[in-house]
Amino acid sequence: MELNKAIIERRSVRKYLDKDIALRDLLELIESAHYAPSSGNLQNWRFIIVKNPELKKKIAEACLDQSWMTEAPVHIVICSDRAHIQSFYEKHKNKYSIQNCALAAQNIMLKAHSLKLGTCFVSGFSKLALKRALEIPESSEPEAIITLGYPSETPKCKRNNIETYTYFEKYGNKKADKELWPFAAKLKSLFSKFKK
Ligand SMILES: Cc1cc2nc3c(=O)[nH]c(=O)nc-3n(C[C@H](O)[C@H](O)[C@H](O)COP(=O)(O)O)c2cc1C
Repeated sequence: MELNKAIIERRSVRKYLDKDIALRDLLELIESAHYAPSSGNLQNWRFIIVKNPELKKKIAEACLDQSWMTEAPVHIVICSDRAHIQSFYEKHKNKYSIQNCALAAQNIMLKAHSLKLGTCFVSGFSKLALKRALEIPESSEPEAIITLGYPSETPKCKRNNIETYTYFEKYGNKKADKELWPFAAKLKSLFSKFKK
């Protein structure tokens, strides 16, 4: 699938078919995460693939009772080896820990979409409950969960206009410099594509 198509089409899916996902596809998803950038190339991400219904129930409960999650045949829990990252980056350990895992997550979600799989990024959870359920050690922190499955819904795209959050040269400036005019024209055609 063309990258731009995957970026534009991907939506958060919260309803899934009762259909298993091939191990080969799961491993392809992990492989795409593995190519994400990370601070100092530390690759602090750790992936737990969860299929067990009891464990998925515990995860959904840890996610403030988001019961829809149990419908997804697979959860990928992305943890960060915080001890590893802390030994390199004391000051920025939290920021880098989360950012590296978020970049890996986006790769997983785009790759999943290209395999016709739906995903939802979930990070509203009790860390403690999740750590207990999945035996995540003290040195590691859960950063996000990606629910995964063949979609049984086609969610709509809800976005503001790109103009509202695109500035030129300094925060708040919406007037493009003359030299940026080709860029501005490109943006205009992009806006119309998004407005459809
Ligand atoms: C940091 C973050 C946390 C999120 N947490 C949840 C969550 O706990 N539950 C949920 O259903 N969706 C969650 N989402 C998904 C967002 O609701 C969704 O991305 C947003 O509504 C835009 O919709 P789209 O992904 O279909 O474009 C989260 C997304 C992000 C980026």
